[in-house]
Amino acid sequence: MFEDNLDYSSEEAARIMRQDLKAFLDHAKEFKIPGFKVGKFKGSVLNKYYEVHSSEYFDSHVIAISNQKGGEGKTTISLYLSEALALEHRVLLVDWDPQANATQLFLKNDIPSVMDCLGYRGRKSKPLKDIIKNVLPNLDIVPSSLELANLTTPYERDDFELLKESLLPIRSEYEYIIIDCPPSLGLILENALIAADYILVPIQTRAFSLQGIKDLYETILKIQKKANQRLTLLGAVLNQYESQKALTGLAEGIKKYFPVFETVIARRESIPQAQAKMTHLAKIDNATLKNFKDLANELKEKLNVEKK
Ligand SMILES: Nc1ncnc2c1ncn2[C@@H]1O[C@H](COP(=O)(O)OP(=O)(O)OP(=O)(O)O)[C@@H](O)[C@H]1O
Ligand SMILES: [Mg+2]
Repeated sequence: MFEDNLDYSSEEAARIMRQDLKAFLDHAKEFKIPGFKVGKFKGSVLNKYYEVHSSEYFDSHVIAISNQKGGEGKTTISLYLSEALALEHRVLLVDWDPQANATQLFLKNDIPSVMDCLGYRGRKSKPLKDIIKNVLPNLDIVPSSLELANLTTPYERDDFELLKESLLPIRSEYEYIIIDCPPSLGLILENALIAADYILVPIQTRAFSLQGIKDLYETILKIQKKANQRLTLLGAVLNQYESQKALTGLAEGIKKYFPVFETVIARRESIPQAQAKMTHLAKIDNATLKNFKDLANELKEKLNVEKK
């Protein structure tokens, strides 16, 4: 993490440790890390110290972007929330949909994909880190493929935890792991919700369905009760938003089940354009990326609240 033979200021060390300066200094003081009095630390000392205590600091936030209804904006929000977060953080985007929409935007076909890493039904399994591809600075992706559609039936108890298990060895390398879920409620989704700490639900503002929200809410309750008590519903994000008029009633309907993010994602032509051109959003339309940066900031605020 740190270069053994370099010295680091408190600011540099805090940034590398992904903590704010005060939190880092409080900790350095509390544990008397050599150098805390003058605010200058040897890399070798920090490495040694954080080897022991690292899990607490490097554990990522795993966020499933999920709605069993098709076309609500799961992939769009996964992609550009990841792009926005990657401006400041290490991010892993897991394409967890057999449609492989996110993968196809960045990568060629016929590459090893996530199904090769799960060990489902006795298949050999590669470590996830062997198939991860870097696509932008700070942004890596786990590719998917149609093969993932075979993950349908749980044969063993472990089959609900395949994604969780394969993420474990690399969780600590990222601050945010974003899982783009498929539009379905089966074993693939259950794996995502068991691997995740949080769930964020994109909802298309125009084609909104309260029944769909109720079904998803029930799935979340079931998973929370049976398999993953940690799973926290962060809330719904309204997507393809066009006018204030419809918004109030809509948000009220959703709030019966979910909290709703204040940031709404506007309908913007540059979004399908960026996807058609297979490029990242910043290259096409920085103003729209700003919308996702606002979402990223609201997300971070919510996560800090959760942490307390
Ligand atoms: N805010 C937006 N403005 C304009 N177009 C959008 C917006 N959000 C999504 N779209 C477009 O709507 C379509 C569906 O979006 P997306 O693929 O993100 O949905 P999805 O929920 O991932 O779909 P699926 O359920 O099939 O995985 C895409 O063509 C996308 O480009
Ligand atoms: Mg999708």
